[in-house]
Amino acid sequence: MRIGLFDSGVGGFTVFKKVVELCPNTSFIYLADTARLPYGGKSSNEIIQIAEEISSWFSYQSIDGFLVACNTTNAIALDVIKNKLDVPVFDLIESASSTIKESRVGVLATPSTVKTKAYTNAILNFNPKAFVLEQSCPEFVPMIEMNKINSNEIIDVALEYLEPLLKHNIESLILGCSHYPLITPLLTEILPSSVRLIDPADALSLQLKLFMDSKTRNFAKKKFLVDPMFCVTSDPETFSIRAKYWLNVFPEVKLVSLQKKGCVS
Ligand code: DGL
Repeated sequence: MRIGLFDSGVGGFTVFKKVVELCPNTSFIYLADTARLPYGGKSSNEIIQIAEEISSWFSYQSIDGFLVACNTTNAIALDVIKNKLDVPVFDLIESASSTIKESRVGVLATPSTVKTKAYTNAILNFNPKAFVLEQSCPEFVPMIEMNKINSNEIIDVALEYLEPLLKHNIESLILGCSHYPLITPLLTEILPSSVRLIDPADALSLQLKLFMDSKTRNFAKKKFLVDPMFCVTSDPETFSIRAKYWLNVFPEVKLVSLQKKGCVS
């Protein structure tokens, strides 16, 4: 079985890692829309357009399921993706929100995600009495993409972003952008140990595992293609270096055009 997933850049690696751990015999096709990175400050119309192009491209890729490994697209254009693809679509926001036990919840996310209040609405749906505070973090993604993860600059912005949440005595903190788990060590150092850090990819990968377990029985005779395939919309060389750094693999990275119809493999 083959699962498709996408993000603007390296953020989807955090989702990819978790799902590979739980679903090791699965084949993946990962698309990073590096040409339009970052997504986090884009308007809803732009994200909807992107979601249309990406889901249209994936509709040619012979996949059995799809993971929205980008919270920004998840928050704004999940319906667009679901309408376009005829395979099950798994999303981070609903998966994570259904597992929240705490009643004072902080969310770190991109400005475009925070604007939608998608996390607040989803959490309140499961627990109407919860207090949810969302913090927009415009600088994290550019810094993470440029590998400035140990810089003084990122420590300063992290302190600034976390301050209002800590003032409100949050009990858990959702990493509402798939790039942010890449700076977990920094965030853990700043946060009091009482605050539970939540990576939505944990809940999503459990859902994917349930789906895979139920399907693999039916697909038992289908040949597994286990090697992940990585595709980008620009600069495959840099992405390949990033993949080596974050995933410890040196994959072949294909440069693709989302306008080109047809299967890349
Ligand atoms: N990693 C994506 C997200 O979860 C996109 C971040 C960005 O490109 O700004 O929102």
